[in-house]
Amino acid sequence: MNRIDRSKPTTIVIFGASGDLTQRKLVPALHTLSCRELLSPDTRIIGIARSDYSDEAFRENLYEGIVEHSRAASGPDDVCQLWPDFSKNYTYMSGDLAELETYRRLGDRLEAFDRESDTRGCALFYLAVPPTLYTMIVERLGRSGLNRSDKGWRRVIVEKPFGHDLESARRLNQEIHQVFDEDQIYRIDHYMGKETVQNIMSFRFANAIFEPLWSRNYIDHVQISVTESVGVGHRAGYYEQAGVLRDMFQNHLTQLLTLTALEPPVAFEANVLRDEKAKVLRAVSPITDSVRGQYRAYRDEKEVAADSDTATYAALKLQVDNWRWRGVPFYLRSGKNLALKSTEIAIQFKEVPHLMFQADQDISPDVLSLCIQPNEGIHLRFQAKEPGAGMQTRPVTMEFHYAEHFGAGALPDAYERLLLDALNGDASLFARADEIELAWSLIDPLLEQWEGEEAPPLAFYEAGTWGPSDADRLLARDGRAWHQQCCTET
Ligand code: BG6
Repeated sequence: MNRIDRSKPTTIVIFGASGDLTQRKLVPALHTLSCRELLSPDTRIIGIARSDYSDEAFRENLYEGIVEHSRAASGPDDVCQLWPDFSKNYTYMSGDLAELETYRRLGDRLEAFDRESDTRGCALFYLAVPPTLYTMIVERLGRSGLNRSDKGWRRVIVEKPFGHDLESARRLNQEIHQVFDEDQIYRIDHYMGKETVQNIMSFRFANAIFEPLWSRNYIDHVQISVTESVGVGHRAGYYEQAGVLRDMFQNHLTQLLTLTALEPPVAFEANVLRDEKAKVLRAVSPITDSVRGQYRAYRDEKEVAADSDTATYAALKLQVDNWRWRGVPFYLRSGKNLALKSTEIAIQFKEVPHLMFQADQDISPDVLSLCIQPNEGIHLRFQAKEPGAGMQTRPVTMEFHYAEHFGAGALPDAYERLLLDALNGDASLFARADEIELAWSLIDPLLEQWEGEEAPPLAFYEAGTWGPSDADRLLARDGRAWHQQCCTET
């Protein structure tokens, strides 16, 4: 994070302060930023929710989350000791989010902070609430005049899911735009906060040797796999409505796709980068090849219909139709209850044009694996000569691992980076309105197809496997196969 300045004094207002996200992610991340001296000590944090808590009870609740989830709390000298000092900046306000009165009181509190500390009217509103409340809160912020300040900036962070389909995402964009300008809106996708996801750009554009190979001239195809070993757990109610396309593809897998495929941006600046991401999405042709799967025990989960056909797994083949990628298929897959948790982008290079060695040798093509998680790093598989007589070759792997080079625990949590960027006004890692809508316009036709007569059959798979065999056939038809998730090896 050394490129990033310490934030300036600001008030952070968390709507949904008694929720899971606040306790598990937001406050632990803010705490780590404080411990690393990246958050100004004059930052004020107001938690708002309906429940009636005292400031003390609120802080105790947050402390539990910090102990369990903050990266800083597990450091060698347990920096949780700093909490008594930092905790004074956390206050709680109970209020009905539908009532303008709540926003009037919030406004008073913001002004009091401006008088007492150096927050200068700057406020970041974090919507850590169910999506059904986004519009209402934004509208009330507007009606109370809290969306603007004569003295400082006002910004809003909107969590995912951003809409349920293209139409609802458009509507949500329009509703938020009535109150906030686009440059005040930070749509979060925590994948963009992952260090290894940002490293896709460093890898491609801070090195001279890979980019010349990064095209249809040398790449045979790309695989993007986000596999999860857990099922839907206590989120089954939400998941039943969402399914894997909305939950993972419209956002996380699309982000991985755009960063892998984009043209070199001329600067690391929010709009320049997001223009390039949007261009990739515009170039994707309609998706016609897909597989939808469901793990066998899914229908027994609580809150899941006994005849549910919600997909917990999907595999797609797509084409990015532009000069760089024409003819290079991108295969994407993601699912729950699979063999391993792993996120990996595998770039498979073309076969050598001519083989000067014995014809019976099986020379597997070179593969570059960007290991997003776990065991974060990069692997390059290539052929090497087996020692000894003859010219027999076999694949070997060259590996880089973050933990080895930067030390265990060096990787920040995604929310640390994203919160700090939002405080510093850098929207590079946040989705712009058009990007969100373009991502939905890729997924929407597929959702429609899956709900209609043309839907591919729902393929069931056993928990703990690699998903339905239909997904293997999707690649086998093209003479290809999914790569073993090599990033999980240590
Ligand atoms: C969330 C999805 O956005 O991402 C979850 O709603 C999923 O279903 C999670 O489990 C995966 O995130 P990560 O960081 O664990 O890969």
